[in-house]
Amino acid sequence: MTQFIDLLTEEMSRAFEKAGYGAELGKVAVSARPDLAEYQCNGAMAGAKAYHKAPFAIAEEVAETLKESEVFQDVNVVRPGFINVNIKPSFVTAYLAKMQETEKFGAQTSKTPSTIILDYGGPNVAKPLHVGHLRSAVIGESLKRIMRYHGDKVIGDIHMGDWGLQMGLVITELRHRQPDLPYFDDAFEGEYPEEAPFTVSELEEIYPFASKKSKEDPDYYAEAMENTHQLQEGKRGLRALWDHIINVSVSDMKRNYENLDVEFDLWNGESTVNDIIPGMVAKMKDDGYAYESDGALVVDVAQPDDPKEIPPCMILKSDGAALYTTTDLATIQDREEKYSPDEIVYVTDKRQELHFTQVFRAAAKCGIAKEGTKLRHIGFGTMNGPDGKPFKTRDGGVMRLEMLIRDINEKMMEKITANPEIVGEEAQATSRQVALAALKYGDLSNQASKDYVFDMERFTSFEGNTGPYILYTIVRIKSILNRYEKENAAAGDEKLLDAASALEKNLMMDLAGFGAMISGACEELAPHRICAYIYQLSNDFNSFYHATRILTEENEEQKKSWIALLRLTRDILNTCIDLLGFSAPERM
Ligand code: ARG
Repeated sequence: MTQFIDLLTEEMSRAFEKAGYGAELGKVAVSARPDLAEYQCNGAMAGAKAYHKAPFAIAEEVAETLKESEVFQDVNVVRPGFINVNIKPSFVTAYLAKMQETEKFGAQTSKTPSTIILDYGGPNVAKPLHVGHLRSAVIGESLKRIMRYHGDKVIGDIHMGDWGLQMGLVITELRHRQPDLPYFDDAFEGEYPEEAPFTVSELEEIYPFASKKSKEDPDYYAEAMENTHQLQEGKRGLRALWDHIINVSVSDMKRNYENLDVEFDLWNGESTVNDIIPGMVAKMKDDGYAYESDGALVVDVAQPDDPKEIPPCMILKSDGAALYTTTDLATIQDREEKYSPDEIVYVTDKRQELHFTQVFRAAAKCGIAKEGTKLRHIGFGTMNGPDGKPFKTRDGGVMRLEMLIRDINEKMMEKITANPEIVGEEAQATSRQVALAALKYGDLSNQASKDYVFDMERFTSFEGNTGPYILYTIVRIKSILNRYEKENAAAGDEKLLDAASALEKNLMMDLAGFGAMISGACEELAPHRICAYIYQLSNDFNSFYHATRILTEENEEQKKSWIALLRLTRDILNTCIDLLGFSAPERM
């Protein structure tokens, strides 16, 4: 469906043409002075030069041709030559009626779907998930849903950190604690036990312990390096132990991501590409791109117009070990071979920007990424605590994601159970649902690249620009519709009438703007645009609602029209929150 704003421009362009001017002057935009008009066109000013005529005169001639317009009313020319217009209510009504009947409310979708690999989440095995991983999961999940809504084929890959030094550290510590395990016995040839020799909580305690120790004890560090190396070389016992670490860790991760309503198509990791690294590196050398520098193997990626220096991309350390860049390059090769993606999008902390610049350039230069493959990094800012510093626990430690979720759930439980009707399991489930909305909306309503403050009080409030406020609005609509449907067996044939008030018209025009908003959010991969849209829509709905007695309206046609309007509002709000990654309860 042609977007609402584009239809306005089309009408204005025809008017310019009729008056003898170029159609390209007819661009219409939302009014900068909403107190004067709904929309405006500045084309007469642009045309003044070309036509050697005062803008005011041009505008007046154009306005003259709009007298009979089916689209505009209250056409007003303001000095020096603005054309201010309002929209005819009947035009809005007809547009909404068409939206109701059209798939995705007439939003424009991709004509030639792209295959996009979305790399997000990025948790590290054996390390507990912390709040830093929250943003990648929350933003990535929303981007995935937005791109799918747009019609593209999206493959979400969690890309776990499962191969680096942290694995060697855990293995080393296990060896110190339980030296008699068969995994460490080089002579052992039998089957290794099926049961892991540790629990997930032990695992979580082991990594920080080992990490700390390796910083204080050089021998321990050397041992961890050696274990990492042997693991990557494929030593049988260490591989078996590694499998246990992965399994225990992954089932814990799955539980965590499930709680967040975040779902991945692929559970690949850095280890997935271990075997293709040697071949890839050899080719990079043979082709003359990778060369030795101070013992390490590097590829130059600087470009003459770089505003600041981009250091060479390191492929192998001097001890021959692969790096974060190496696994990322090999992963691009692997993805090209398996999926031939049009695009690969990475969602990580923006502090990894240099890393991705180096990887993308090296991938393009060495032919690892195919020519047409777009590589894109979406870098997000830090989630800070109330003190403006990276979010920490009360005693200053790294906040585990589980704890954060538990805290916000508890807070929401207090609020939800303030309604004495909601008890037991419903209270539990509703609290979790609303808490998730608070968490995700609190994050996504900010432009991803910006830092933000995690403010429990504000995020969980039922008022203001928050997730719970949006849900509250949806619940309110649902409850009116439920009551109406109970009283009206034949519900379903409700037809929209023209707006009966300015407040209703505002609401209707918000709804008409859905398609343009979605296009913008897809193009810019910007969930915050959806948040801004539903906040405005909710505000305008609530203003309309407070001024209108819907269910007691005597005029049957009028009442039905409002019911239809409520349904459309509910459906669009539900669609939007689904794209953000959360949902609304029946009541709260
Ligand atoms: N595991 C990494 C981290 O915790 C994030 C991985 C992001 N994805 C990637 N392909 N590099 O920082």
